[in-house]
Amino acid sequence: MARRKLFVTTALPYANGPFHIGHIMEYIQADIWVRFQRMQGHEVHFMGADDSHGAPIMLAAEKAGKTPEQFIAEIEKSRGPYLAGFHISHDNWHTTHSKENSDLSQDIYRRLKAAGLVYTKPIEQFFDPVKGMFLADRYIKGECPNCGAKDQYGDACENCSTAYAATELRNPYSALSGARPVLKSSQHHFFKLSDPKCKAFIRDWLETPGRLQPQVVNKAKEWLEGSGDKALADWDISRDPPYFGIRIPDIGEEKYLYVWLDAPIGYLASLKNYCAKRKLDFERLLAECEQVHFIGKEIIYFHTLFWPAMLEFAGAPYKVPDHVYVHGFITVSGDKMSKSRGTGIDPLRYLKLGMNPEWLRYYIAAKLNANVEDIDFNADDFATRVNSDLVGKYINIASRCAIFLTRKFKGEIKLAPGDALLPKFQEASGEIGKAYEAREFGRALREVMALADHANQFVDQQKPWELSKDPANDQRLQHVCSVAINLFRLLTIYLKPVLPALTAQAEAFLRIAPLTWADSETLLESGHTIQPYKHLMTRVEEGQLDKLFEQGAEQPVTEQITIDDFSKLDLRVARIVRAEQVDGADKLVKLTLDVGSGTRTVFAGIKSDYTPDKLEGRLAVLVANLAPRKMKFGLSEGMVLAASGDDGPGIFLVSPDAGARPGMRVK
Ligand code: MSP
Ligand code: ZN
Repeated sequence: MARRKLFVTTALPYANGPFHIGHIMEYIQADIWVRFQRMQGHEVHFMGADDSHGAPIMLAAEKAGKTPEQFIAEIEKSRGPYLAGFHISHDNWHTTHSKENSDLSQDIYRRLKAAGLVYTKPIEQFFDPVKGMFLADRYIKGECPNCGAKDQYGDACENCSTAYAATELRNPYSALSGARPVLKSSQHHFFKLSDPKCKAFIRDWLETPGRLQPQVVNKAKEWLEGSGDKALADWDISRDPPYFGIRIPDIGEEKYLYVWLDAPIGYLASLKNYCAKRKLDFERLLAECEQVHFIGKEIIYFHTLFWPAMLEFAGAPYKVPDHVYVHGFITVSGDKMSKSRGTGIDPLRYLKLGMNPEWLRYYIAAKLNANVEDIDFNADDFATRVNSDLVGKYINIASRCAIFLTRKFKGEIKLAPGDALLPKFQEASGEIGKAYEAREFGRALREVMALADHANQFVDQQKPWELSKDPANDQRLQHVCSVAINLFRLLTIYLKPVLPALTAQAEAFLRIAPLTWADSETLLESGHTIQPYKHLMTRVEEGQLDKLFEQGAEQPVTEQITIDDFSKLDLRVARIVRAEQVDGADKLVKLTLDVGSGTRTVFAGIKSDYTPDKLEGRLAVLVANLAPRKMKFGLSEGMVLAASGDDGPGIFLVSPDAGARPGMRVK
């Protein structure tokens, strides 16, 4: 087979938080495929990077009291333990906030402009006069123009699901400052995706046989061929300052490239950075390699429309992706991944508990196929699969037979001719290899485990423990154990893409060089000696899974503050002298509070758990120096403290013990 050259990437994670199980699942999928290609003798350059630009990261940094550069540098540093921990074998990890990415992005922008595919036009958008910045829809809230629900985001209502433009919200306010946004115009740069030559190219690219999964082609075509208000729109690729990103070149004024323009270019930036480190010619490597992207289903749009079009019309040395392989989402016990932990699995916690990363690799691989399907992590299923397949079937073959070779034959292999099982195992390499190539990992592993069953049946029939009782059977015993160890070796080859660390141990035990796929054509021949068997893998214990899912232990802890930070809060004891229903408000109760020096009015979102009559007369704790906020029903002069969880069981008002008097400071 001709030696393939592959440039493989995983999607670039936003640099505003640690990895979660969804990221790790994607890396495991891509890593298994990459390791399989390497075992085939192909040349692979496997790239990752952080997606470090954009408004959310800029704002997260500000909130953390850091510069964006500091903020993303810390995130980038946190990546290593996860990647190494789960044996993810990227050849390079870079960032979009880099010279390579800035150079490449500006170059691509210039080329698209020269190709006549960039134009400018003024756009009117909401602007936060306090923050001094334009607001993306997710930073604007207000009342739904359809049902009137309050605090809805600027794109769609969570209450009635109506989609609308941010400008249609009633009483809009900035989610960043609370200020009322104003409409302001600015010149935006657009990529002309709707250009007929662009659409013709994308159509052609999508339809190239074998390039994409059929489901992905269908999805992309729906967008491409939409008409009316679903027609493919041009792409707004500019952002006004303040923005954390790459400057638009040659235009005199300060504008930035939208983060989704420079993000995929980060794939190339990582490759360029890697080439510099390895003294490779970037442009040549790019030209020679197949370009393969692994991504999740929610970013198909960017990767099958904008990205190939950008590359095509930027021209050489850029070239269009050869494959975009899309996976579904991982859920945990049926729950969608959520940032509020408890339902998710924290990958770092998994490692810190001493759980074997290859259990997770195996479990995820066993569930994956080449379709865009979601998979679920289920704790019981996880333990059963790992324990019965890996430990009960695969490892079992070696642990049952090696001991006799070591004890009786100094570890020496001796095969009698004419065994039928070995060729059967060798021939399986074709089908299993095809399954790996097609990313049908579940199918590959089912075939491997079916073989493992055969191997165990063979051992059960031959009963080496019986044979070993009578020296007259020695020849037979040595042959049976030699066959079993050879079967184990063949299965090890087939599991190697999934279990790289276990395989390394098995290679040491068998005293062989690192296994390649072609090694399935050979056997451990008579005369070869193996090491004494040492246990290769432990079972998953119930207790470990309990700990992994233990609530509380992983409650997110916010950043530490100093006593000075804390003393900025003016917390006061207050007596609720009056509590009233608010007409038209489904969450609010209006409270009149005696704070010692006078009274204050506060609207508190506690209606679901407290009726007014339960509130009058009791003590509460007031944040007295919170900036007053104008609400639909009046001015709220502070906030009362209450406890609540993400998902119930309710709201609990905080109150001091009896004896405290209104006006007392809480500190
Ligand atoms: N920064 C963009 C990608 C830019 S690529 C040029 C982004 N980042 S992300 O951090 O939100 O997601 C990174 C990858 O993780 C995506 O491929 C996404 O599909 C994947 N996953 C995020 N959550 C996931 C699951 N729950 N399950 C599986 N993968 C999911 O999008
Ligand atoms: Zn609504």
